[in-house]
Amino acid sequence: MPVNATETPNLSLLRFGAPIKSGAAPSLASATYKSRLLQLFETLNAGWTGYHGHPWVPAYSAVLADVAGLHSLRLAVLDPPGSILLESSFEGDQAAHLESLRTALGPLLDVVFCNAEAYAGTRDRTGDQFAAWVSSLQPGAALGAAAATAAELTCLAPSVGSAASVASPDAFAFAVHSAADLERLSNLYVSDDDRTILRRAARCLLATLPAQLEAKANDADQAVKDRFAEVIAWFQGTAPASEPIVCPAMAGASAAGSSNIQVNGKKLVMQVLTDIEDNYSNSGYLDRMAGSFGRIYLGLDRTDPNYALQSSASNRAIGTITEQDAFAQAINATRDALRAPGASFDIKDISDKVLAALCTYWFDIPDGNSVISSGSVLPFPPARCPGHFAPPSGYIFQPEPGWAMKLVGELDGRILRSHVADFVAAQRRAGIPPNGVLSKALFAAFPKSPDDDDLLTRTLIGVMIGFLPTVQGNLVAAMAAWKGAMLDSMRHDFLSHPEKDIYERASQVIRGPLMAAMQQAPVPPAVWRTAVKAHDLGDNPIVHVKPGDRLFVNIDSATREDLGKNIADVSPVFGGDRSLNPHPTHACPGFWMGMGVLLGIIAGTLEAAPTLAPMTASRASAVF
Ligand code: HEM
Repeated sequence: MPVNATETPNLSLLRFGAPIKSGAAPSLASATYKSRLLQLFETLNAGWTGYHGHPWVPAYSAVLADVAGLHSLRLAVLDPPGSILLESSFEGDQAAHLESLRTALGPLLDVVFCNAEAYAGTRDRTGDQFAAWVSSLQPGAALGAAAATAAELTCLAPSVGSAASVASPDAFAFAVHSAADLERLSNLYVSDDDRTILRRAARCLLATLPAQLEAKANDADQAVKDRFAEVIAWFQGTAPASEPIVCPAMAGASAAGSSNIQVNGKKLVMQVLTDIEDNYSNSGYLDRMAGSFGRIYLGLDRTDPNYALQSSASNRAIGTITEQDAFAQAINATRDALRAPGASFDIKDISDKVLAALCTYWFDIPDGNSVISSGSVLPFPPARCPGHFAPPSGYIFQPEPGWAMKLVGELDGRILRSHVADFVAAQRRAGIPPNGVLSKALFAAFPKSPDDDDLLTRTLIGVMIGFLPTVQGNLVAAMAAWKGAMLDSMRHDFLSHPEKDIYERASQVIRGPLMAAMQQAPVPPAVWRTAVKAHDLGDNPIVHVKPGDRLFVNIDSATREDLGKNIADVSPVFGGDRSLNPHPTHACPGFWMGMGVLLGIIAGTLEAAPTLAPMTASRASAVF
């Protein structure tokens, strides 16, 4: 909360507003200066509020301590009249305070006010020039009573908000998340100047991240240290930056002369996924997998005989789990998780426990020994389920993962590979088949040999990666979308429904809203392919695809198109429908299992937890 100037003696208020530039900003996502400001504020706010809404995580607050006399700072987008407002309360001399804002928070001011008219930045300007710019602006009071706040960022200096200085065990994870969130805005800050401004702001706000990384690296093995060193170099600007390159629809040429092609709309999305002419390859996934948990059949094309050899038994076993089986297991595990002493009412925390229990049931992992039950994504042993399975999934599926996702996706994947290998070795030594339906089928499909044990390890991990982040991502996004009245009305409908069979009741009450939520915000929102043959795609416009071009298959464009036409179809979220002929080679074999688990967890929470607090939508769609 802003400090009220009238309550504190000697507290002054600085307040000024700058007009937002009109027109389109140079960006890859048809943004205006205002729309990219709103996205920036949303990202910064998530950083300031803290991980899962815990305000005590000091993600950015440290930077405020350097502003002389600062008590509170408020930045707001006022629309109307289309202005950016800065309001700070401080002790001491105004000129000294302004200079301190410029020197300590310059990069933050730059990333915000570069969207304003006639702003020349803080970097190459003297304090007098900056003060002159401020005096040329409207004083805050002149903005008028009609001004409406479209977005705002309010923060207390750490000395004022004592809670802000409390350290948290999640601070490191949160700082990595925040850095990745900021990096994602590179789509909107594409000119050379804007890119530099965004990166400087990230480095200013997360100034303590390199030190945190260094401290963590001291605990870690050499590979981890090397990767952290790269990240620190990126942050400090001493290494060639691996800036993300995201090309606009059908227009971008990459350095190698190949293009990134956006595939939008249901017809084209399904055509590329089904790929009856074998125009596309999944081989791009293989390279990503290789640096992480290792290669599995999702990266092989059907023209490769190894695809059938490696996938048949595995996909068949997954397909034997019916929606009803999966529902029963999931609702029981949810009831157990909610009954446990001290049970959390955060849907992410509940689903971490439920998914770990379900994996032990179906895969014998986590075994509590080689792999433990935990939702943490932090890249340190022991291997964690479901935590460590999420970053490799995001890293592989996202067409353009940022550096943070690559880093954590690779590190978590390597930890999984070595620890699941220990589990496989222990099972082989014991000489008895595992208990779980899926682990039993996979152990039988890959008989004992060193090569096969590694393939078995990778396949177990790969299948679990197919299951965990997709179910959890869709679950958390749906619950966040329903938060409030919708969740209340679903709970009411579920509890008062006359159907006695709980699976039937869940099917009737939850399936419709669940499918709509998945269509609105699918996880994964996109997958990608590499073209292997020259061909034409689409008719308006016709795109001439060359071998080497990458196709970003935007699943969300297909599902939202259906939603707009009242068509209830979630098959694109699963990469297609395996029961069709022909079907996309890689269409998910876990459709029924996935839907059953989703219905079961949601039913379990609806019947049990009136105070359940879903995460906010912005966290739900966060990096991992
Ligand atoms: C809501 C739940 C799920 C969603 C949204 C989902 C989504 C997907 C998608 C989009 C693909 C295709 C990727 C591509 O073509 O690039 C896929 C493939 C796959 N999924 Fe799922 N999945 C879910 C649940 C599951 C479950 C429960 C399992 C297994 C336990 C699973 C295992 C797999 C496997 C093994 C593949 C690769 C199939 C192949 O290449 O032959 N998935 N999934």
